[in-house]
Order: sequence, then C-alpha cells, then structure tokens
Amino acid sequence: MDKSEAKKRTRPTERDQAFGRVLKLRSEIARLRSAYHVENAPGVTDDVYDSLTRELKILLEKYPEFTDENAPENRVAGKPLDKFVKVKHQTRMLSLNDVFNEEELFDWEKRIKKLLQGGEVSYFCEVKFDGLAVSLIYENGQFVRGATRGDGFVGENITQNLKTINSIPLSLTRRGVGRSGSESLQARRGEVNGVVPAFLEIRGEALVSKKTLIKLNIENEKKGDQFFANTRNVAAGSLRQLDPQLVAERKLDFVAYDLIEANSLQTLLNHSEKHAYLKNIGFKVEKLEAKCKNLSEVIAFIKKFEKIRPDFPYGTDGIVISVDNLKMQETLGVVGKAPRFMVAFKYPAEKATTILKEILVNVGRTGVLTPLAVFEPTLVAGSLVSKATLHNMDQIDRLDLKIGDTVVIEKAGDVIPKVVEVLIRMRTGKEKKFKMPEKCPTCGGNVEKLKISSGFLQPSARTFPVQKSSVSPRSVAFYCSNPKCPAKDERYLEHFVSVFEIYELGPKILRRFKDEGLITDAADIFTLTKEDIAPLERFGEKSAENIVEEIKNKKKISFSRFIWALGILHVGEETARDLAQHFGTLEKLISAVNHNQTEIDSIENIGPAVLKSVDNFFQDKNNLNFIKKLQENGVVIEKKEKRKKGKFTGLTFVLTGTLSGMSREIAKEKIMSLGGKVSGSVSKHTSCIVAGVEPGSKLKTAEKLGVKVLNEKEFLNMLG
Ligand code: IVH
Repeated sequence: MDKSEAKKRTRPTERDQAFGRVLKLRSEIARLRSAYHVENAPGVTDDVYDSLTRELKILLEKYPEFTDENAPENRVAGKPLDKFVKVKHQTRMLSLNDVFNEEELFDWEKRIKKLLQGGEVSYFCEVKFDGLAVSLIYENGQFVRGATRGDGFVGENITQNLKTINSIPLSLTRRGVGRSGSESLQARRGEVNGVVPAFLEIRGEALVSKKTLIKLNIENEKKGDQFFANTRNVAAGSLRQLDPQLVAERKLDFVAYDLIEANSLQTLLNHSEKHAYLKNIGFKVEKLEAKCKNLSEVIAFIKKFEKIRPDFPYGTDGIVISVDNLKMQETLGVVGKAPRFMVAFKYPAEKATTILKEILVNVGRTGVLTPLAVFEPTLVAGSLVSKATLHNMDQIDRLDLKIGDTVVIEKAGDVIPKVVEVLIRMRTGKEKKFKMPEKCPTCGGNVEKLKISSGFLQPSARTFPVQKSSVSPRSVAFYCSNPKCPAKDERYLEHFVSVFEIYELGPKILRRFKDEGLITDAADIFTLTKEDIAPLERFGEKSAENIVEEIKNKKKISFSRFIWALGILHVGEETARDLAQHFGTLEKLISAVNHNQTEIDSIENIGPAVLKSVDNFFQDKNNLNFIKKLQENGVVIEKKEKRKKGKFTGLTFVLTGTLSGMSREIAKEKIMSLGGKVSGSVSKHTSCIVAGVEPGSKLKTAEKLGVKVLNEKEFLNMLG
C-alpha cells in the first residue's frame, strides 16, 4: 500500500462524517427537547430546533442505516417538572404535523380525501399562537383544574397560576342565543339557558402580547436580566413560576381553540361550531378565523394573514387548518401523536442553522477589512442564504465564532441575514479559529490595526479614512494601508451608485466598465453611451439602452444624498442630512470651509471629528475637481430639501440600540413622516434620544447633556 492510499483510508469518508453529524444532531436535539418540555426553558426558538431536525431527517433519508428506533427523535418528549403536581390528561394532548408550502398542503388534501373516499371537504382556518398549550377542566361549569401539555399524556397542574389570567372564566354560563348557529346548537343539546355540560375540557393557548414582551424586556434590561426571545418564552417562563403573584404581574392572556367533551360529536357538527360555542360560554376566541370551502380559500386566508402578521398583537407561527366536519375528523383519526384532520401551515422560518464553511475578507471603500461568513446555503425566510457579513473582528470574538461551527442565522422579512449565535454544543473539536490576514487580500498591501474609540479615530492613528458606521465603539479595525488599493475604488463606485440609486450598475458591471476603460471615476458614469456599452460581450443593445436610460433618470439628486454620495469620512446618511439642512446649498458649504466658518457650535448635531473630515475633504483640490466634473457631466442638485409638516416638526431625534418592534429604517421613516428630523449624533440641539436594546455611547452623551431619553414603549406611544 503506497502512502497516498494509506492516507485515503485513514481520512474519514463522507459517510463517516455524516454519521458523526447524525450523532451530534441527535444529542443536541435531545437536549433541546428536554429543555423545552421538562424545564420549560427552550434555549433556542422553534425555528432553530426545526432546522436541526430537518437536517437530521435529510441525513437519515440519505443514510437510512443510521436510523435508530430508540433514538431521541423517535421518542415521545420528556417528563413534566417535579415541582408541580403531575396530572394525567383524560384525552391525550396531541401536536400538529407541519406543512411548509402549498404543495405540501395539496398532498395533505390528497391523503385525507383518499381516506374519506370521496365527497367535498371544507376547512376551518385559525391563527396558530406562539404561547403555551394548556388544558382547562370545568365541572358543572366551575373551573377546577388547569394543566400544561407536558408530554401529551401527563402535564403539570398549574391551576393557581391560570387563575390569575383574567380571560380564563372561573365559572361558565351559556349566554342564551349568541351568534351563528348557537340557537340550533342549543336545541340539539337540549340545553336550557344558563346550563353547560357537567364536564368540559377546554384547550387553548396561554400567551402574552408583543407589547408585553417589549415591556418586560425593557424592564429586564434595566435590571440586567436576560431577554425573552419570544412571546412563548414569556408564557412558558411565567406559568412555571411557583408564586402565582409573580404570574399575575406578567399580564398573561388565554385564547381558546378547542373543546373536548365526552359526547361532543353528538351535539356539535363542525370545528367552527366549537369556536362559536366557546365564545358563547365566555371564552376569548380569536376573531381572525375562516370557514373555507376549499384549499384555494385556505391559501387566500394564509396570504391575508401573512400581510397582517407583523402587526398582529400576538406572536404567531402559522395557521392551523382543520377539516371542519367533526364526523370526518373522527374518521380520519390520529396517527402517532398528531391528528390526520389538522395541520399547521408554517410561514418561512426566520432563523435556521447551517455550517460556517469559511470566512472571506472584503476590503471596503475606506480600506477597512470586513469579514464575510460563507456557509452551506440554507433556506431562511423564504430565500436561500449563503453569505452574511460579520462586520468586524469584534463580532467574531463576541460570537466566539470558528470555521466549521454550526451557527444560527436570522433573516426577518427583508432584513439582511446575520449570524446571531454559535451552537457551541455542536462542536467536534475540529473547528478552526479565524485570524485576520496580515496582507490585504486585494492588493497584498500591509494590513494595519487601528484602535477606534466611540466611533472616532484615536489622535495617534494615521488619518486613514475609516468609516464610522463600520466599527463599533472601542473596537479594533483592520485596514489595508495601501492608498492605491484597487478595492477601495471599487467599493467607492458601489457606494456612489447605490446612493444615486442606479440599480442597473451592480458591482460586476462596474468592475467590467473599469477594466474596459469606460470609466476611471464615478463621474464618468454619467457620460456612458449606448455605443460604449452595447459592443461589450454579454451586453447587447437592450441592456445598454436600459443602463443609459437609468443613469439619465438619476442625474437629479437631493443635496443631502449628494453629500452622502461623496463618501466623506464620518459622513453617513444622517450626518449628510444634517449638513444639507444647515448649509442649504453646496456653494455655501464650500464657501464656509474656504472662509473657515465651519464652527462646531453653530452646526446642529455635528461633532468635531466630522467637521475636521468635512474641512479636509473640501480643501482637497482633487475632490473639488471631482465635484466640478460631476456637475459638468449633468448631475444636478435639487433645490430644496422637502420636509413634511406634522407633530414632530421642529424635533430632532437620535436613535441608538436595537428596537425590538421595528427596524431602524421604519423608525426613521415614521419620524420623518411626522415632520421630525433624525440625526446620527447627539448634541444640545437633540430633542430626544430613543434608546433600544444595547444602546451605544450616544446614550451616555445624551444623559450628560440632559437630553430626554425615551424607551421603545414611550417612543411607540409618542408615534401614536
Ligand atoms: S389546535 C393537535 N389551534 O400548536 C393539537 N393549536 O403544534 C391541536 N397552537 O400544542 C391544537 N395555536 O400549543 C391549535 N389555534 C390553535 C393553536 C394551536 C397554537 C399550538 C398548541 C399546540 C401546538 C400544536
């Protein structure tokens, strides 16, 4: 056997690696299941758990020989807590099978129709809440016992805690003839007004609103406690409290969704009637529900709710779809721990797990090296994600990220994907630490380290342009020290076209135009003609025409965006807006610099470091020539900055930290739509600072200056 053959034999095969991964996934899934069911303290969200389970399922499909009937994924979940008294459920509390898209929904319909042997099936749709499932027992109309789901067979008796929830009635009475169907229903039951069956079991979800989640997290932040990741964690965590007094403070709510009664099938015909009945006897039932004649109507409901979902007051994770007819439900029955007659439609996950394959390093327009995570492509919020910026070395250290790690990535709606967590327990010991390169990956120039304090350069550091927004307070920036590094030019071009909103010119096209000699700087973009572009390979008449047309349409720009596009050190979008407000025109700005009139105190929200870099920029002849060239090539600065009038007119806001209920962009838009200004830095002119989670140094400055500080809730109230 030669050496290379020996090496091949000792190297693990793909199958060996898969087996190792299966074992890792199994143990982590088992741990998470126990955390969820036994301790009621899920360490991760459902998305993360689902993602790991999906990976395991795919691996087992590929390698069926690794299947193990006694493995945790094939066992019923854990035991209830010892602290609460255990309760055996009279009827098992089931869970639901998930469907993730329309195709799976149609497959489900095909399966059930086959079992029902013909006939039309109508459905019932309702919201799937992100809380904790509980069972409530009523004897002779009195609430006698409430329990958690536990493992489905045995739960925990949490009656005292549930009694603190106002929406759980302590005694039930029929309210006479209510809405839809209750009159005939009552007749069918032979009930007299005011009487409910001797035994009733109600199932539903204990939950908190998103507003309560925000409020609790703000309080937790003040106390230095950990944040609740979602509404379910609050509900679960609260109901685990042994002291009902503490539970009462949490403002829990209860929404009923099912009714279990020994002889229910003789009296109620449809699942929708159950809901009507629940409402009638005093339970809160979600208004957003629909009887659907077919799956097209079900899909319409799913789409309708998807639009409302971000603003829905409660956390949700999908839609529950049931076969409406209860006789049909009985025929279909239960397989394993889930009914055949009900499924949960899950909206695309906003979090998923994947493996970090490598970390690439990009050079930005200011020369800063930015690490970029590259992972196994994975589906998050409906799109395939394979890369995410890691911003800087601090971020890598904070996450304790290593190459080969299993990571959690998050992408909510349109938000850019980010790595939020490392699943340390998934490590095998083969993960590698990442080091920033010593040479620039683009030009081979020396990489230097720069200490950044509060977003500004240390005085001793060389005045190499470092963009404030790319580094966090007191972090270390790595940058390429070669002033001629081509990556900087490229990134500047990308920044320029993005501020001018010339979407046809992506990074690849810009690089191509530069390589072909069509442009030497950003101003040349505005002289490009169809004849320049069309002859290039892979372009053609039509795309050349589109590009030229788009550039022509984007020649007009507001003053603030023009300033932003110049790429002045420390001048991002918000600071550019402040400068534009103060000076009004480019001429005035340049003349103020020439006459040394850019005085610190006179300019709202602008600090010394920004002013210094603005001065430097406009004193540089090359920059003035570049501006002249832009104007000669047809770029026009629009005269007046449009500002809406509203209740925030005259107020300047500064945002710091993360808001849990809305993105920063939306918050800015809302402020501006009410006539307010948003600034990037705090000064004595700031009216108030909105402090989200993990606020930056701006909060300290605001407190020093006596600027009013708003928390997220106060800010939301102010928005109205
Ligand atoms: S029906 C067979 N309706 O989802 C169990 N469940 O995955 C049927 N859930 O444990 C329950 N909202 O905690 C149903 N409107 C709703 C629901 C709902 C949330 C939860 C419940 C259950 C889990 C099943």
